[in-house]
Amino acid sequence: MSFFDIFRTKRLKAEVDFENLPKHVGIIMDGNGRWAKRRGLPRKSGHGMGAKTFEIISEFAGDIGLHSVTFYAFSTENWKRDKEEVEALMVLLEDYLDNGLTKLAGRNARIRFIGDRSAFSESFQQKQKHMEEATEQNSGLLLNIALNYGSRDEITRMTRHVAELAAKGELKPEDITEESISDMLDTAGLPDVDLMIRPSGERRLSNFLMWQSAYAELWFDDVLWPDFTKDDLLRAIIDYQNRDRRFGGRNK
Ligand code: IPE
Ligand code: IPE
Ligand code: MG
Repeated sequence: MSFFDIFRTKRLKAEVDFENLPKHVGIIMDGNGRWAKRRGLPRKSGHGMGAKTFEIISEFAGDIGLHSVTFYAFSTENWKRDKEEVEALMVLLEDYLDNGLTKLAGRNARIRFIGDRSAFSESFQQKQKHMEEATEQNSGLLLNIALNYGSRDEITRMTRHVAELAAKGELKPEDITEESISDMLDTAGLPDVDLMIRPSGERRLSNFLMWQSAYAELWFDDVLWPDFTKDDLLRAIIDYQNRDRRFGGRNK
């Protein structure tokens, strides 16, 4: 990092209103494949670089005092990819489950996974659980990782659960409110997404936090995820802070 890089980050930080940070930021970590392709490398190298970016950005998010960030790491649709690519991704994810805790120890972050875990092996699920339990008492950033996550799948699982409770007589129609639905989703307890960040030039949600992002401010940029920097996160936050959020009402 050069003097100029440090200076630029400092200047951007000075523009951020730290009293008005987005409470929940969603990040779609997209563009790993294209990053690798441009360098003539296999896609898995892009995912490896993307994993490094994830570590840098999640650490920085904690440093600047963000409350919660949810990273989209693997979607319910990503199983459609070649077996080789899916396996490479699983190796990276498992490596994070094995070694990420030590790195997190000093950071005070709370880790939580969202998505359907039943697709993963028993030992993989045990590691997820262990990471959540080991960081449960931390008081820093709520770091959510979306694995085998899709909004439609999340809403489908939640609705099934509701039907089961109703069938047992444990839930009445009037118990269903926007709040109770939010509390039954994987993101229970988290605030709604204020800022949704998607790099890589794609301008869509790809089945990510659709209920939770109903009023999110969307931030898109052409930067590919492995090239995404702390400055990009600061730029997205500054842009967010300059938006006029009306929520259907009218601001004076
Ligand atoms: C995002 O990068 C990582 C995952 C979806 C797991 P991609 O692999 O989608 O990269 P592109 O979009 O092909 O460049
Ligand atoms: C979204 O990216 C999923 C993740 C980043 C984990 P994709 O690359 O899978 O999304 P599409 O296919 O471009 O919509
Ligand atoms: Mg992609």
